[in-house]
Amino acid sequence: MDDTQLLLELNKIMTLEHGHLGMYRDFDRHQDQDMRRTFRRFAEVEEEHIQKIKNVILNMGGKVSLLAEGGDILGKLFGITINLGSDHDLIKTFSFIEKKSHEGYQKFVTKLEQDQEKRSQLIAEIASSNMLEAWLMHLWLEDKMKKI
Ligand SMILES: [Fe+2]
Repeated sequence: MDDTQLLLELNKIMTLEHGHLGMYRDFDRHQDQDMRRTFRRFAEVEEEHIQKIKNVILNMGGKVSLLAEGGDILGKLFGITINLGSDHDLIKTFSFIEKKSHEGYQKFVTKLEQDQEKRSQLIAEIASSNMLEAWLMHLWLEDKMKKI
């Protein structure tokens, strides 16, 4: 993958990660204590995701640029309204988004792994930890959805 294409992909991922952070950042507005605590940690995880992708971009000598406002990119992308409705609906939406995030990372990691370049292999390793955490968050949300 050439630099321009890779940087574009990374900036796209970082924009989506900002969208994820927007889902959890206002954790303290929830009534449910379990949601408050979990979303507080999820917000930290999303910040770590952003930081990791940002570091890759900067280490490649690239420029960090959000491709859209984080908040609405998710809504636009999936045609959904975020943060409306019951806790159950909210959790369901977030679970769907984390699943999509995992799928996106899977495609990205697979593409990088097919590339012979050492740099691509390294970026695949970094991206795969974000991929795993998207899946873990999805699983927590699926579990929570059954209880709420
Ligand atoms: Fe994320």
